[in-house]
Amino acid sequence: MTHLSLTHRPRRLRSSEALRGLTRETQLSRSDLILPLFISEKISAPTAVASMPGVFQLTEPALIEEALAAHAEGIPAILLFGIPSHKDAQASQAYSPSGVVQRAVRALKKACPGLIIITDVCLCEFMSHGHCGVTHFDGDRQHIVSIDNDASVELLCKTAISHAEAGADIVAPSDMMDGRIGAMRKGLDQHGFQNTPILSYAAKFASAFYGPFRDAAESTPQAGDRKSYQMDSANGAEALREVALDVEEGADMVMVKPGMPYLDIIWRVKQRFQMPTVAYQVSGEYSMLKAAALNGWIDEKTCMMEAMTAFRRAGADLIVTYAARQVARWLTLE
Ligand code: PBG
Repeated sequence: MTHLSLTHRPRRLRSSEALRGLTRETQLSRSDLILPLFISEKISAPTAVASMPGVFQLTEPALIEEALAAHAEGIPAILLFGIPSHKDAQASQAYSPSGVVQRAVRALKKACPGLIIITDVCLCEFMSHGHCGVTHFDGDRQHIVSIDNDASVELLCKTAISHAEAGADIVAPSDMMDGRIGAMRKGLDQHGFQNTPILSYAAKFASAFYGPFRDAAESTPQAGDRKSYQMDSANGAEALREVALDVEEGADMVMVKPGMPYLDIIWRVKQRFQMPTVAYQVSGEYSMLKAAALNGWIDEKTCMMEAMTAFRRAGADLIVTYAARQVARWLTLE
């Protein structure tokens, strides 16, 4: 038998799980996970989201149960979305002190004070037309004339302040209006919330991977799309400019969304800004993995863990994922 005389044999370090573990570059732990949850005031029992296997719209008691269970499993934070029973053209339930999110936050803080409550700050779930801002339509309401940036920012600020008043630990604006981080920082400060951090959805792309989420949050736009405010998926340099603006305006943490199709953006953002960086494995990414696994086409655990590791390797400090509880349990079993 002949042997090649090789100085470098990368396989030496792959020869056992112990050696692979010793030289593994990227670690994933339960403390990296953020679990998104949906609270609905329209339902009397948890309701499955058809396009997101394992995800439910929750009632308040079910939300608290889910949050307590997640926290007990080692998940440090949840990201809360609300589904109101009343929608209008001013998104009034987004910033009402008795809105679905505000009430849920108060209940959560009481029941589970150690859990970090992040609230998604957006108007789309609360607008009758499903857009993330104040929208002007033409006469027949089929076409958008404009999304009013500055009027939207005003409502978003009110929403963020009302979340902080209810006890939110972190507010996370996901609307993509210009100037909202600066305005929100100022508004929070003026209301005594100098210490409430802002997690900005800083580089959020207009993505078809949000499809299942819009079923879950009942926030599909009734006309038009989100391309005049969310980013074009072709743009990387622009993503860096968006993040730069949000950092300058006072964002404490920044998010890239979606996750897996945008790993290059996560990498560039982390390298450039060295901010706490969050990746969002969005609904479509989650549902693709789930659907393939349910068909027996891929191995769910291995693929999901590979995706999680990829986010961490790309530079994400934290990962928002609907699979957070499942991933936490797998990590515990390892
Ligand atoms: C609200 C919002 C969306 C998501 C998070 N916040 C939907 C959208 O922008 O249409 C998507 C999350 C997901 O797909 O999991 N603006």
